[in-house]
Amino acid sequence: MFIKIGIDLGTANTTVYLPQKGIVLTEPTVVAVDELTKKIIAVGQEAKDMIGKTPGDIKIYRPLREGVIADYRSTLAILKYFLNKTKISKIFKPLLIISVPAGITSTERKAVIDAALEAGAKEVYPIREPLLAALGADLSINSPSGHMIVNIGGGTTEIAVISLGGIVSWESIRIAGDKFDESIKEYLRKKFNLAIGDKTAELIKIQVGAALIDKNTNLSINVNGVNILTGLPMTIKINSSHIVEALQRDLREIILGIKKVLSHTPPELVADIMEKGIVISGGGALLRNIDQLIYQQTGVAAFVANDPLYCVARGTGKIIEKLDIYRRVLISHK
Ligand SMILES: Nc1ncnc2c1ncn2[C@@H]1O[C@H](COP(=O)(O)OP(=O)(O)OP(=O)(O)O)[C@@H](O)[C@H]1O
Ligand SMILES: [Mg+2]
Repeated sequence: MFIKIGIDLGTANTTVYLPQKGIVLTEPTVVAVDELTKKIIAVGQEAKDMIGKTPGDIKIYRPLREGVIADYRSTLAILKYFLNKTKISKIFKPLLIISVPAGITSTERKAVIDAALEAGAKEVYPIREPLLAALGADLSINSPSGHMIVNIGGGTTEIAVISLGGIVSWESIRIAGDKFDESIKEYLRKKFNLAIGDKTAELIKIQVGAALIDKNTNLSINVNGVNILTGLPMTIKINSSHIVEALQRDLREIILGIKKVLSHTPPELVADIMEKGIVISGGGALLRNIDQLIYQQTGVAAFVANDPLYCVARGTGKIIEKLDIYRRVLISHK
């Protein structure tokens, strides 16, 4: 009998699920490294709080890029940090259920397994994120019926049609929350000559961001930054319509991805999706009116899952609780 732990190892956030306890921990997937000693000095929220505020010899790393490991050493540090925090893994080595992108290569998958084993796991089951997101959104993925999930994370948007416990058609797009932040930065720089940092861009997105404007989304925020022409501090009032404009191109790519997946899906399953609607998960699902935009552009109703940030972690929990029922979705183990 193993202790089983579910981990949503995301580009932006890592979340841990424990049986009987549920979600016990969620923190940014970020580490801070002292470049002089090469030592990791902070992990998680503490490291994220340092972004944009570090002296030259401290560097902030985001160990995952587009859902896969870009930096092995800091991913290992992240996994160790989270496993230590659960306080149970030192006695019994745990079995880990861990999320990976739908399009993961065998080399990338091996890196996840190696890092998890080195961090102290006894067995590792990498599972494709859209399946976990669908499970966490309470879709009955084992039924002979088509479900479409659009998981908008930090690094990737994964669009998948699921039936009988498997992915029938899917697309992974490298446009998600991080790219939204980049686009907001670029937009403000071009339109107002205003330079801002990554954290401010994310804050603007969360506070006033929207995919469409309606009567409830006329929000505004005063943003402090630097005028790139004068080098002096500057404050500009930004409203939701600015952000709709800034994100237009990115959102169009996501819509195109959804249309592409629909066009590659067998008609019977498309009919199921038309009936039940598209389910949106991941942090990007919290962008105001994203459901309306998807409906407007595809003609298929769209719904934001409950607590969309935690769908994938909840999905790992469902697998843990019923490992034999979901054996089909386990892509490999060690
Ligand atoms: N209220 C909000 N409005 C818009 N975006 C939000 C909101 N809250 C969080 N986000 C964004 O959601 C993203 C993180 O989502 P999530 O935790 O699902 O990603 P992840 O799983 O770490 O990434 P990936 O699945 O791509 O590896 C971040 O870009 C964050 O800025
Ligand atoms: Mg994710």
